[in-house]
Amino acid sequence: MSQAKRTFQLAPDLQICRILNGMWQVGGGHGQINAESAISEMFLYHDSGFTTWDMADIYGPAEEYIGQFRRKLAKQKGETELALVQGLTKFVPNPGPMTRSIVECYIDKSIRRMEIKTIDVIQFHWWDYDDTSYLDALHHLSKIRDEGKIRHVGLTNFDTETIKITIEQGFKLISNQVQYSIIDQRPAIKMTPFCQKNDIKLLSYGTLLGGFLSEKYFGREEPTGAQLDTLSLQKYKNMIDAWGGWNLFQELLAVLDAIAKKHNVSIANVATRYILDKPAVAGVIIGVRLSIAEHKSDNARVFAVKLDKQDQEKIESITSRSENLFDTIGDCGDEYR
Ligand SMILES: NC(=O)c1ccc[n+]([C@@H]2O[C@H](COP(=O)([O-])OP(=O)(O)OC[C@H]3O[C@@H](n4cnc5c(N)ncnc54)[C@H](OP(=O)(O)O)[C@@H]3O)[C@@H](O)[C@H]2O)c1
Repeated sequence: MSQAKRTFQLAPDLQICRILNGMWQVGGGHGQINAESAISEMFLYHDSGFTTWDMADIYGPAEEYIGQFRRKLAKQKGETELALVQGLTKFVPNPGPMTRSIVECYIDKSIRRMEIKTIDVIQFHWWDYDDTSYLDALHHLSKIRDEGKIRHVGLTNFDTETIKITIEQGFKLISNQVQYSIIDQRPAIKMTPFCQKNDIKLLSYGTLLGGFLSEKYFGREEPTGAQLDTLSLQKYKNMIDAWGGWNLFQELLAVLDAIAKKHNVSIANVATRYILDKPAVAGVIIGVRLSIAEHKSDNARVFAVKLDKQDQEKIESITSRSENLFDTIGDCGDEYR
């Protein structure tokens, strides 16, 4: 399998694995994580070529895990091995004034926790567009980037209208991290054409709906609230309900299962490949419940899958019967505002 298919050149100085390891799952609400086993497991991801980690300042110990992992990795394999690790984190401040010292304080904290000199990508989230301090925050982030503590500035959950404002103000942004899955194709409507025009890449999350897009849920009765034992499953069950409900979702799983069997892969592989093939998508972030569950070898098969026109049409025969989430929820990230 060629390396080119596994990786994406997000910037001239930054190559990422097209499947990123998502660390929200270590931040609480996804089962009891054992820190020591979690960090040991990070070596297995690294050695399997899953070298890109998606974190946030609000994901509990995630940034500290990457710090400890990097320290141990350097000790075991030498400092040069660190160049093979990519760490993307997020800056998710509480609303309010964004002075240089406030922004820098957050960035310095992430740097300390990740035990690095330069953060590969800071993805900025903002809760309330009526508060235009987000432009101040971007101004400071850009300065801090130019001074060397950050390599690239990206966004998360920004809608098209607000990204447009930031681009018109001259900010240089590398990416926007958004929810993008077979059932939630809102990014295709306005975000993708805008990103293509402005050379901004999309990083996708929610692509497996917390695990719902897998054999585990195919043919199963609708789960009760009490059976949804991770925050991720709770979040995406709401999406399934808004999209078309459990019966239509089962029809989708039946179609995906048939496609998966045809290609000799898993439902998760088909769901991931479908989004990786979308324009402007640089990578799909798949949540990892370190020390609890793992799907590395299955997810590695994504790189070899090629969906054909017939597969696409079968998937669209179901999605065309669903609610249009762009109409009911709005553009990317509107569910947070
Ligand atoms: N920017 C934002 O606002 C935002 C929001 C949400 C998430 N994120 C990012 O995206 C990441 C992904 O989180 P998510 O909540 O969207 O979860 P997700 O990636 O849709 O689902 C992750 C879950 O899918 C299951 N899974 C993974 N590979 C599988 C396979 N091959 N076969 C079967 N099941 C498989 C696992 O479940 P089990 O562990 O139960 O086996 C895993 O915990 C987060 O960690 C975070 O980095 C960002």
